[in-house]
Amino acid sequence: MVKKYVFGTPFETEAVVAQIAVEQQTTHIDCGSILVEESGFTFCYEMDKQDVIYGLGEANRGINKRGYLYVSNCTDDPHHTEERTSLYGAHNFIILSGKEHIGLFFDYPSEMTFDIGYTHQDRLVVRCAHADLYLYMITGESAYDVARQFRKIIGKSYIPPKFAFGFGQSRWGYKTAQDVETVVKNYKDNQIPIDMVYMDIDYMQDYKDFTVNPDRFPDFPDFVQKMKQQNIHLIPIIDAGVKIEKDYDIYEEGVEKGYFCKREDGSEFVASVWPGWTHFPDVLNPEARAWFGSKYEILINQGIDGFWNDMNEPAIFFSREGIEDLNQEIMSYVEKWDTEQIFENADAIPYEVRGKIERLQNNPEDYKRFYHCVDGKKIRHDRVHNLYGFNMTRAASEAFEKIAPDQKFLLFSRSSYIGMHRYGGIWTGDNQSWWSHILLNLKMMPSLHMCGFLYTGADLGGFGANTTRDLLLRWLAFGVFTPLMRNHTALGTREQECYQFEGIEDFRHVIGVRYRLLPYLYSEFLRAANEDDLYFRPLGFDYPDDRRAVETEDQLMLGNEVMLVPVYTQNVSGRVVYLPEEMKFVKFLPDGNIYEETLEKGTHYIDVALNEVPLFIRKDKCIPIVDVAQSVEEIDMQTVSYIGYSQATYQFTE
Ligand code: NOJ
Repeated sequence: MVKKYVFGTPFETEAVVAQIAVEQQTTHIDCGSILVEESGFTFCYEMDKQDVIYGLGEANRGINKRGYLYVSNCTDDPHHTEERTSLYGAHNFIILSGKEHIGLFFDYPSEMTFDIGYTHQDRLVVRCAHADLYLYMITGESAYDVARQFRKIIGKSYIPPKFAFGFGQSRWGYKTAQDVETVVKNYKDNQIPIDMVYMDIDYMQDYKDFTVNPDRFPDFPDFVQKMKQQNIHLIPIIDAGVKIEKDYDIYEEGVEKGYFCKREDGSEFVASVWPGWTHFPDVLNPEARAWFGSKYEILINQGIDGFWNDMNEPAIFFSREGIEDLNQEIMSYVEKWDTEQIFENADAIPYEVRGKIERLQNNPEDYKRFYHCVDGKKIRHDRVHNLYGFNMTRAASEAFEKIAPDQKFLLFSRSSYIGMHRYGGIWTGDNQSWWSHILLNLKMMPSLHMCGFLYTGADLGGFGANTTRDLLLRWLAFGVFTPLMRNHTALGTREQECYQFEGIEDFRHVIGVRYRLLPYLYSEFLRAANEDDLYFRPLGFDYPDDRRAVETEDQLMLGNEVMLVPVYTQNVSGRVVYLPEEMKFVKFLPDGNIYEETLEKGTHYIDVALNEVPLFIRKDKCIPIVDVAQSVEEIDMQTVSYIGYSQATYQFTE
């Protein structure tokens, strides 16, 4: 059952699509207490010792969120260390699961704090500075039931085209058509399956959205077609900031039509991002959103069928005002250099000055300096901050509907708010080549799926820092199962394409397993999307009465048949697993054979070599597999066979 409460005058985020009557309430709802004051809104709930708190989508730490503080405030911060409280998304949905099972969605688009036993061990306190919000309360039979009810009210999840379930290679640093060709050639020559190559900011002319540098890509439409003939889709990045440059049509048009975010005095707000000084399209204004979205057609007309939207928190390196707030000393540096040089030459700047420059980045003061125009009203950005990435992605998706209503596009975003899951997927931003980030990736996935973001994945191998062969292999062996499977890394890091390492056959094999399983993974993804279900689930959703399963945070349920047990530590030959019931242990071996062994409920140590992909099949279930293919297009459904329990059958979802 879902109840809806309203406090003050909420901003209509459009996160929830179901029509739900508003309850008459004052200070108390059926669970917890509510305090509405001048200084904001507070929800308080006393947790039982055994209560598990699920949710928060893209957030740090565990599947059970208890014991820390989380702040919904979309932030471009590449240091996803344990103490960080905000990442790129804001997903204000939690499930309190113990003697009762209650879901709470705080539909509030500005900064919101979830103190989940951080200040007082057994107290949950949710706070925000303005008591203007909708609160949805869902009661159900189990955490799983609550999650599914929530998914019903927020609308169907985005479904990408089938090719998007293939493997993709990315790197910040591919600059030219030749760079892309080299990647494709190496993958193809080494027979490592691949479907996508991502184009980071360097394909653009001076980082201008919707442009292609003609020197680097002399005949882009032709190049896109040549790639397609090899079953390779090129996926360009689009950034939020539009470069300020005379004669750049998108900039000039945006200014003329008044479609950029404005300062209080009506002038366009100016922020520095990759292109240098930029304006932000006012994607919260429907007209401006339609205008910005229509620009994707420029690339679609050149054959592009997928995009990733970046820097849309929106990330701000610094603003004019921020700079002006600092002293002349800094000015003397930044005026000499363009944006990139400031970062490249950071060491030449005195330490104290450098500190000041760094603090300019994503400065909360900047988010108070510009406004959106919604229904003719001026709304200060910080009051709706968490909706920017959502609406940038919505801009693209709504435009696709008009441009090519019969075509499916790949689309995912860095920043997001619940509701955006209907328009696109997300990737989880700038992680690091750390073993702990495989585990963070695993733990985030089911939380994201509770919030509707089914098409998700992390930068496999790690974005920041230098990866290692074993880290990449282990991470890929988990990435085989994430809907978005992409190897991506930052400028300046070690080469991270699979063919850069010794023993290429191991990479060929691990990625090959993705293609062997693809019909199954795609079918389970479609089922989850069509039925408002979760593709990834915590073990506690399927085995709620088994405390050991509830506390297991390094295994996941996938679809109705599979349990995942990735290896996420270095220099080990396997790992300990917990089986809540009898299951079949399956390993995809490098020689193409499949190892199967039935294991009893309980604890086991399983051997998993670096070049093997492990999974468990649940009792009395089976899954389909096919022969390896070099791309999604080439998968041959005539080769279907089944592994798992022999008497079981599997029904594909179309
Ligand atoms: C930040 C994104 O998170 C990253 O994936 C990308 O490579 C860089 N921006 C450069 O575009």
